[in-house]
Order: sequence, then C-alpha cells, then structure tokens
Amino acid sequence: MVEKNVKVGVGSLDKARLIVLDHGDFSKHEDEIMRLEEIFHENIRFDKEYKKNEMTKEGAIALLVELDGRIIAEAYGSPLSTLRGELREDNTEHVAFADLFARFRGKSKNVFYLMSYGILPKFQRYGIGKELVEEILKRAKAEGFEFVAMHAREGASLQINQKLGAQVLDGYPNWYDTGETNYLCIIPLK
Ligand SMILES: CC(C)(COP(=O)(O)OP(=O)(O)OC[C@H]1O[C@@H](n2cnc3c(N)ncnc32)[C@H](O)[C@@H]1OP(=O)(O)O)[C@@H](O)C(=O)NCCC(=O)NCCS
Repeated sequence: MVEKNVKVGVGSLDKARLIVLDHGDFSKHEDEIMRLEEIFHENIRFDKEYKKNEMTKEGAIALLVELDGRIIAEAYGSPLSTLRGELREDNTEHVAFADLFARFRGKSKNVFYLMSYGILPKFQRYGIGKELVEEILKRAKAEGFEFVAMHAREGASLQINQKLGAQVLDGYPNWYDTGETNYLCIIPLK
C-alpha cells in the first residue's frame, strides 16, 4: 500500500490522508469500503465481489480518503478496455456503455473509465470530490491514457466534471431506474 499525506479540503479535514489501494488492501478496508455503497441509490450499489474486482484488477486505480482512522471517501476506475460482463460493448441492454464503446471503437485502450466516486455526506462540499477526480486524472495521464470518461450524475458530479474540462455528451434519463439523468463526460488529458 502506498500512502501519502495529501491536503484534501479545509479546516477539520486537513488531517485527511489519501490511500492508494493495492491489490491486497481491499480486505483490510472491506467493511468500510462496502459501507460507502450506502451513499448511492440502491439500484446502482455494487456487491462485494464486483467492487473488489473493479478496485483491484490489473490497471485499476483505487483511492480512499481516511480521516481519523475512518474511510470517508473513495474513487476508482480502470481502463475502458477491461470493463467486463454486462458493461461490455456486445451487450446492447446497456445503451450507455454501448454508446461509449462505439465512440471509442478501436481506441478504448486510450480511455480510463472512472467507475465511481463518493464522499460520506458529512464530509461533502469540502473539496474532496474534486481533489479525488483530479488525482485520478493525474494518475491516468501518468499511465499514458488520453481521456478519462465517466457517467456523471446531474448536480455535484456533473459540476466537478465541467470544472475539470469535461465535454458533456449524451444524457441518459432515469439511469438504472434511479430517476436521475447521468451524462457521459469525457475529460481530455492534455
Ligand atoms: C459528487 C460528490 C463526490 C462531490 O464531492 P464533494 O467533495 O462534496 O464535492 P466538492 O466539495 O469537491 O465540490 C466541488 C464542486 O462541486 C459542486 N458541488 C458540490 N456539491 C454540490 C451540491 N450538493 N450541489 C451543487 N453543487 C455542488 C460545486 O460547484 C463545488 O464547487 P465549489 O466548492 O466551488 O462550490 C459528493 O457530492 C457525493 O459523494 N455524492 C454522492 C455520490 C455521487 O454522486 N458520486 C458521483 C457519482 S457520478
């Protein structure tokens, strides 16, 4: 596990630490990582097996934020070319992913897909979300990717993407029956 002190947010959050998850570290933080799923609408929560795979597979970048011994935030993704199962281009049920793969046909290896990020409600609006996405962009760029793509929820996530230079493309109303619209955001890594 690589850890470093990172200034995330302000005031009482200035002791927050960034943890870069390594393959074996999922089990160490498993309970807290799974508790973070409660941030999300029940229709889009991941089960442990799926999340563990997404956070620890080859090419994944997974970040946690710890404050006073507690995991308060996460951000993770992986190369678009490694998305598996129902998210693959050959499954047209998931139009959003079919569209994404179609957009980058033959070039999906250049794209890092930010699968998810979230902050416990008490710690939102301290700048952590934006810093986590910036950290993902920095790391994806260092790995040689040309773009970071994600499906951002309307509201805070979409605003963060726009602040970070995302092109906002297709909108998907009622994303996984959540009643919310998610937008395909592509951030070029200049
Ligand atoms: C999206 C999320 C991660 C943002 O994290 P955060 O740490 O609260 O966001 P930040 O403090 O970095 O905010 C950055 C910008 O986003 C916007 N923003 C953040 N929260 C917002 C809110 N509740 N309403 C409107 N805009 C908001 C603001 O423009 C803010 O910029 P400002 O500080 O100049 O006002 C957080 O709200 C969250 O965990 N939400 C639930 C899970 C989720 O939606 N994840 C994204 C999946 S696509």
